[in-house]
Amino acid sequence: MIQDIKQADAQLREHPDPHESGTPVPRKVIVMVTLALLWAVGYIFMARPNADPALGDNRTHNELMAQAGGSAGAADGAQIFGAQCAACHQASGSGVPGVFPPLAGSEWVNGKDSLAANILLHGISGKLTVKGEAYNGAMPAFGDKLSDAQIAAVLTHVRTHFGNSAGKVDDAAVKTAREATRDRTAPWTGDDELAKLK
Ligand code: HEC
Repeated sequence: MIQDIKQADAQLREHPDPHESGTPVPRKVIVMVTLALLWAVGYIFMARPNADPALGDNRTHNELMAQAGGSAGAADGAQIFGAQCAACHQASGSGVPGVFPPLAGSEWVNGKDSLAANILLHGISGKLTVKGEAYNGAMPAFGDKLSDAQIAAVLTHVRTHFGNSAGKVDDAAVKTAREATRDRTAPWTGDDELAKLK
C-alpha cells in the first residue's frame, strides 16, 4: 500500500516524455516574413540609393540657417577661430613660443585692417617678427577656404578678444584687399613684404 503511494508520487513528479513535433512553420509566419522582405527590398529602391547625396532634400543653405534661428549666412567669428586658427595660435590667442606667433597684442593683428586681411588671404612663409620675436614658419592661406564675410568675422573676433582692442573689420575691406591682390598666388614672404603693407 505504502509502496503504491510512493510510486504514484514519484510518477507525479516526473515530466512527461518529450515528443518530437512534426508541425511545419505556420503558413501565417511564412506570409509575414515574405511581406517584410518585400517591404525591405522595396524600401531600398524607393529610397533611391543612387541619388546624388549633395541634393539632400533640396533646401538651400539660407533656408536651413533661417530654421536654425541664425540669421541667413552670418559668419560666426568665434566659431571660425575655433575651427581654423586655434590649433596653431591656441584658443587663448597666445600662440606657442618660437613656433606659432601670438595674436594677442600682435602688431600685425592690431594694425591696418587691410594688412590683417592680406595675411589671411594669402598666408605667410618666411621670417616674421612678432612682438620682437622672430618666427620662421608657414601660415596657411585662407583666401580659397573662407569668404570675405568669414575672414572679416574671424578678424573682427581676433581684434576684439585676447586683450586686443583694434576695430571691427568690414566685409568690404576684405573684398578690396582680395581684389587688389587677385593675381597673387604665393604667400607673403614675411617681414620684407608685409612691412610694405603696414
Ligand atoms: C597651421 C598653423 C596655422 C594656422 C591654422 C593658422 N596660422 Fe596664423 N600663423 C601661423 C604661423 C606659423 C605664422 C608665422 C608665419 C611665419 O613665421 O612666417 C602665422 C602668422 C599669423 C599672423 C601674423 C603674425 C601674428 O601673430 O600676428 C596672423 C595675424 C595670423 N597668423 C592669423 C591667423 C588666423 C586669424 C588664423 C585662422 C583663420 C590662422 N592664423 C591660422 C600658423 C598658423
